[in-house]
Amino acid sequence: MSDQNDLLSTDIEAYLHQHEQKSLLRFITCGSVDDGKSTLIGRLLYDSRMIFEDQLAALEADSRKMGTQGQNIDFALLVDGLAAEREQGITIDVAYRFFATEKRKFIVADTPGHEQYTRNMVTGASTADLAVILIDARRGVLTQTRRHSFLASLVGIRNIVLAINKMDLVDYSEDVFNSIIQEYKSFASGLSFESIVPIPMSALAGDNILTKSDQTPWYKGPTLMHHLEVVPTHDSDRSASFRMPVQWVNRPNLDFRGFSGLISAGSVKPGDRIRVMPSGRESHVSRVFLDGDMEFGIAGQSVTICLADEIDCSRGDVLTGIDDPIEVSDQFEVTLVWMNDAAMQPGRSYLLKLGAKTVTATVTALKHKVNVNTLEQTTAEHLELNEIGVCTLSLSQPVAFDSYEKNRETGGFILIDRFTNDTLAAGMIRSALRRAQNIHWQSIDIDRTARARQKNQKPFVLWFTGLSGSGKSTIANLVERKLFELGKHSTTLDGDNIRHQLNKDLGFSDADRVENVRRVAEVSRLMTDAGLIVLASFISPFRAERQMARELLPSGEFLEVFVDTPLGVAETRDPKGLYKKARAGQIENFTGISSPYEAPENPEIRIDTTSLSPEEAAGTIITELEKRGLLRID
Ligand code: ADX
Repeated sequence: MSDQNDLLSTDIEAYLHQHEQKSLLRFITCGSVDDGKSTLIGRLLYDSRMIFEDQLAALEADSRKMGTQGQNIDFALLVDGLAAEREQGITIDVAYRFFATEKRKFIVADTPGHEQYTRNMVTGASTADLAVILIDARRGVLTQTRRHSFLASLVGIRNIVLAINKMDLVDYSEDVFNSIIQEYKSFASGLSFESIVPIPMSALAGDNILTKSDQTPWYKGPTLMHHLEVVPTHDSDRSASFRMPVQWVNRPNLDFRGFSGLISAGSVKPGDRIRVMPSGRESHVSRVFLDGDMEFGIAGQSVTICLADEIDCSRGDVLTGIDDPIEVSDQFEVTLVWMNDAAMQPGRSYLLKLGAKTVTATVTALKHKVNVNTLEQTTAEHLELNEIGVCTLSLSQPVAFDSYEKNRETGGFILIDRFTNDTLAAGMIRSALRRAQNIHWQSIDIDRTARARQKNQKPFVLWFTGLSGSGKSTIANLVERKLFELGKHSTTLDGDNIRHQLNKDLGFSDADRVENVRRVAEVSRLMTDAGLIVLASFISPFRAERQMARELLPSGEFLEVFVDTPLGVAETRDPKGLYKKARAGQIENFTGISSPYEAPENPEIRIDTTSLSPEEAAGTIITELEKRGLLRID
């Protein structure tokens, strides 16, 4: 490493110790290719001497080769590390870089500025304490400045540096500087920032970056580096309410039981009274460990906490202070930033990870989406990649939470695809829904077991899925007749019929199909609660909703019957003449033609209708039910 960090080469222990004691500021830089963002970061790294000798040599050689800055060093080359980026002249992913000064350590997230990279910016910004918003002094406040500011505010950044760059190109004009500040502040007044610090600078010339510039004698504020060294960090507020999501229960032997996790807010010390949420059980802290026993633990530290009492506490619970307990709910209003190519569908169930807790979540309604450039709110049916919306969510079980505004860790979550494990969205809890607090479960004396026993049968759902015209309804009808002959109590829910009744408000968009299947799955559950055998036959083209229906029922009570008829065969049969119309363009979103069908991967029963007659298919299903013991009463 170059000259300044001599300690690193002479006394590594001392170097590490020195760094350990320093606070850490995480910040993000926002701006577009031309604003000089990479040059600014390059300069911070270069001037703080966080560059290795070999990197320096490569940088000098590269600068000469590219020739962008004549014989001088092009700092942007230090940052624009990715080859594709260099060639296209744009920054494409989130790059995290570390540097340090005498006073502080820094992690800077360099994210791309284009709208199609909103998700990258949100990822980079979600842990940041501060955002440096770059403005080209010649161009002033632009659409992208507003977008970046809105996103920064959305992910909870409260401190802004308005880096008014390229002042050398406007003759270091104080008037230009002031008018940009005025315009920015009038726009940002609605964004709940705690501080906005405007700094006139030239990243290229080094003005007001590390040292005060002679070119701006009228400027009385701090240099960028000075401000970065003193601005309060997220972790520094020790008076905040104590929160620690439990990552794992540390139980090496019978004599020791500790709860390990990262303190996300406040502090904790032996003797403190704490509460385990969501259960609400209370105890005292007996010990706090980091390397060894500690007098206290503070936000940002990963610790292990022992409690005075043997109370129930497991992974995903949250340890909290006693004075300001965390809230508990299973229904929320949230903001979602959608990060996946497959659009968000209200009604579809996803996995939600909040702290160390993972539960199932369904978007119950999309209230509106927000235009990131104008902040305008519009109604929408779903959220596409990079879109932001306010939704209501319903969870499979109550979780402990704070609003995101209060605590990013206990109020921020991600949504995950149940099949691919992809991260689909970043979310921020706004509040619990009041309706969740006012609606309680009523206990009912006669339960599903009693109702089934009275009917002398086992309730279950036979879920027929397959293309239109595959033979679902015909086969289901024959199966029900056989069950009837066996004295079983049953009911049939059929796509075409239900769409004349309960679901007559629904069409065939993806969102409507999700809602169609959600309602039918709920009705199927109610019918099995009543002790009935349910035959549901719906195209139900999406794996996610069939899985959701499965999970509503006790294991073994949901049987997926894949009526496997190839598209060509269904189309030749065309019992309702719909394929013909669809091919003629008279029906939109027709399954198999202009709308997808996701075939089941592991159905309990697969019926090949090209080799079995409907009678034979029904016989196969009854045999399978007998084999599984579903037609017998034990
Ligand atoms: S699902 O996709 O939402 O599960 P559902 O089973 O309720 O569909 O309804 C499918 C039936 O509606 C088909 O059998 C067909 O008769 C009729 N239908 C009308 N329009 C369409 C369409 N665009 N796609 C599929 N089926 C359609």
